[in-house]
Amino acid sequence: MASRTCVQVLARSSLALVSHPGSTKPHLRFLHTVPKLCSQSQQSGSSGSKMLVHFVNQSGVKSSVFVTEGETLLDVVIKKNLDISGFGACEGTLACSTCHLIFEESVYDKLEPMVDEEIDMLDLAYGLTKTSRLGCQVTVERWMDGMTVHVPQEISDQRGKQEAVSTK
Ligand code: FES
Repeated sequence: MASRTCVQVLARSSLALVSHPGSTKPHLRFLHTVPKLCSQSQQSGSSGSKMLVHFVNQSGVKSSVFVTEGETLLDVVIKKNLDISGFGACEGTLACSTCHLIFEESVYDKLEPMVDEEIDMLDLAYGLTKTSRLGCQVTVERWMDGMTVHVPQEISDQRGKQEAVSTK
């Protein structure tokens, strides 16, 4: 998105000794400095930033995709149609844990804290590690450029389990 920034005009004047070509005598003259009035710049703000993120699926196949700052990793998997079996079954409503992803420790340490619902759902995920998070709860930020996330070997859809429990 283009933004337009206007600067208040403040003409500065100062005296200076100026020599003209062909003249041997310098003379005093007012110099005026007028700041640039307006500048138009292309903002590289949050909506347009693209970062490269690598996903490694259950079969060990790596997919590298450009992602937009502000979207969740679930959004990315869906939009880019990544080959991750059963991913995001509840569409981000914190009811399935199929969006379980394993992060590099250096990345995990910088992620936003988990809400209680994510902690509860992660507790039910298969293959839980100390750097596990739910992809529907992790929003892409600029500093994540170049990170790799791994899909665990097994996923479990807690919705089916809850339904199974409720029918007994
Ligand atoms: Fe179901 Fe994330 S998509 S918990």
